[in-house]
Amino acid sequence: MKSIILEKLKTGNGLYVSGEALSEEIGVSRTAVWKYIKELRNEGYIIESSSKKGYMLVSTPDILNEYEIGCNLNTGFIGRHVQYFNVIDSTNNYAKKIAEEGCAEGTIVVADRQTSGKGRLGKLWDSADKKGIWMSIVLRPSVAPGEVQIITLGASVAVVNAIYETTGIKAGIKWPNDIILDDKKVCGILTEMNSEIERINYLVTGIGVNVNQENNDFPDEIRCIATSLKHFADKGNSEVKNIMPEGTFKRSEIIRSILFELEKIYSTIESGCTEKIISAWKENSVTLGKYVSITFRNAQYTGIARDITDDGKLVVECSDRVTREVAAGEVSVRGVLGHV
Ligand code: BTN
Repeated sequence: MKSIILEKLKTGNGLYVSGEALSEEIGVSRTAVWKYIKELRNEGYIIESSSKKGYMLVSTPDILNEYEIGCNLNTGFIGRHVQYFNVIDSTNNYAKKIAEEGCAEGTIVVADRQTSGKGRLGKLWDSADKKGIWMSIVLRPSVAPGEVQIITLGASVAVVNAIYETTGIKAGIKWPNDIILDDKKVCGILTEMNSEIERINYLVTGIGVNVNQENNDFPDEIRCIATSLKHFADKGNSEVKNIMPEGTFKRSEIIRSILFELEKIYSTIESGCTEKIISAWKENSVTLGKYVSITFRNAQYTGIARDITDDGKLVVECSDRVTREVAAGEVSVRGVLGHV
């Protein structure tokens, strides 16, 4: 009910919506409308009221609950069920639990803070309170387990597109799916899978975007390799848009856009058009053409990253003149110069 009131206030577009109209349209008493308005105010919504004109939404807080993400969400199934937590150990862990219990495909788990956010290769992911997007999405793709890499690559394209659409910031992708800004990491993606030999039971795609951190919000050990959208914007980049008066970006808007972009890409993959995803990935790549060092079957090589294959392997022309195709998980790619 509260979400319907909120939606009506939002569609009022800065104009008053009468209490009577709200109560009639929704079918509850005016006292009940008032009670919901009070609850919304307690959650941080600034709502003006006038005994003659009704209610007007003045501003929306940057909160990530089901109705804030659901308002104006333009997707069919991704993000249609939201499980929000103020604090959780890891949204990926919780998403795996509910996936196991049979939750609907597209359900998302989102938190303001993670106490044990998980990164790739067993690392921890710093997930400071209300500073970023810590979110996991449950998917049940029909691709074979060996082809799952395409979904992870697709997720990175979705995030780059969403960041651009909502903030005007053009980030790049470091193979396989780190999102990079100014040679630093602004987003990481961790996909975990539960599968049988021939089919995937579920996939949890965990996305961590550094949105509103100041540089010194990052722990010392990652400060020189991590960045945030805000930190980038604060440097006075002219393409940046939609920054709020307090100098931050609205996380819920970026989330909605990620969900929208991801659903488009996911449907493309499900319909078998993976080449579109590969070419979008290549367009955004900051790895191709770069000198990289790889760890491959316990040996180290350096070479030039030349391409990615249709199933998402990185093709590296190594200095020993052998071209190697490496899959994520069995390699680490590190720029010989810098972090990219
Ligand atoms: C990486 O190391 O690049 C992957 C980082 C993935 C972090 C996200 S935050 C939301 C989700 N929950 C987790 O515990 N990890 C992922």
